[in-house]
Amino acid sequence: MVAEFVVEFGKDGRRVEVDGRLDAAAFHRNHQAIWAVLQPYLAGLSGDVIEAGSGTGQHVVHFAGQTPDITWWPSDLNENHLRSIEAWRAHSGLANIKPPLRIDLSDAAWCAAMQDGSGPQKPLAVFCANVIHIAPWRVAEGLFAGAGRYLRDDGRLFLYGPFKRGGKHTAVSNAVFDSSLRDNNPEWGVRDLEALQELAANAGLVLIEIAEMPANNLTLVFERPKPA
Ligand SMILES: C[S@@+](CC[C@H](N)C(=O)[O-])C[C@H]1O[C@@H](n2cnc3c(N)ncnc32)[C@H](O)[C@@H]1O
Repeated sequence: MVAEFVVEFGKDGRRVEVDGRLDAAAFHRNHQAIWAVLQPYLAGLSGDVIEAGSGTGQHVVHFAGQTPDITWWPSDLNENHLRSIEAWRAHSGLANIKPPLRIDLSDAAWCAAMQDGSGPQKPLAVFCANVIHIAPWRVAEGLFAGAGRYLRDDGRLFLYGPFKRGGKHTAVSNAVFDSSLRDNNPEWGVRDLEALQELAANAGLVLIEIAEMPANNLTLVFERPKPA
C-alpha cells in the first residue's frame, strides 16, 4: 500500500469538529507503534518534550496522557493546525500539555519562546513525525540544528517517517510515495538516513537506534555522543 500525504489536515475530506479539532488518518495507524519506541526512553523522566510539526495535535494528547511527569509542548506552522492542536489540548483536559508554539523549523532558532524563557528550557526530547519529507531540506536542517542547540545534555531527538537507507528505498511503496512527493514539490522527498546522520553530526548528535516500524517507516533516535 502506498502512503498518501496530507499537506493540510481538514482539507482532505475527513471530519472537522466545530471547535477546530482535525483528524489525521495516519495517527490511528501509527501512534501505538511510535509510543512503543518512545516509552522506554521517557520512562521515569520528567521535564519538557517538544513536538515539532504536530499537525492535528493527536499524538501529543496520546503521549501526554501516559506521562504526567512530562510537560509536552506541541508546535506547528500552519494556523489551522495550531487551532486544532489547541482544541485537542482543551478537549483532553490534560494539564501537562502547553498551548502550541508557532515554530518554523526552517529557522534554526525555532521561535522567540525558546530564548525568552517563556518556552521549554533544556527539553529532554524533541519528537517529529512525518514532517521532513513533506517540506524543503532546510526544514530538516533547522530541525537538527535546533535539537542540537536546545536539547539538554542527555536529551534525545525522535524522528518518525519513511527514509532511504544507503541511498535506496526500503520498499517499492516508498519509492512510489517519494515520486508523488517530488511531483507535488521538487523540494520535498523521502530523505536519506546517511544525509540525516550528517546533519546530526553537525548538530552534535549521533544516531543510536533505528527502529523498524509498520508500513516501511522507521523511528530514528539521536542523542549526544557519550564522553569517551
Ligand atoms: C504530514 S503533517 C504531519 C503532522 C503530524 N506530525 C502527524 O504525524 O500527524 C506535516 C506537518 O509539518 C508541518 N510543517 C511543514 N513545514 C513546517 C515548518 N517549516 N515548520 C514547522 N512545521 C512544518 C505542517 O504544517 C504539518 O502539520
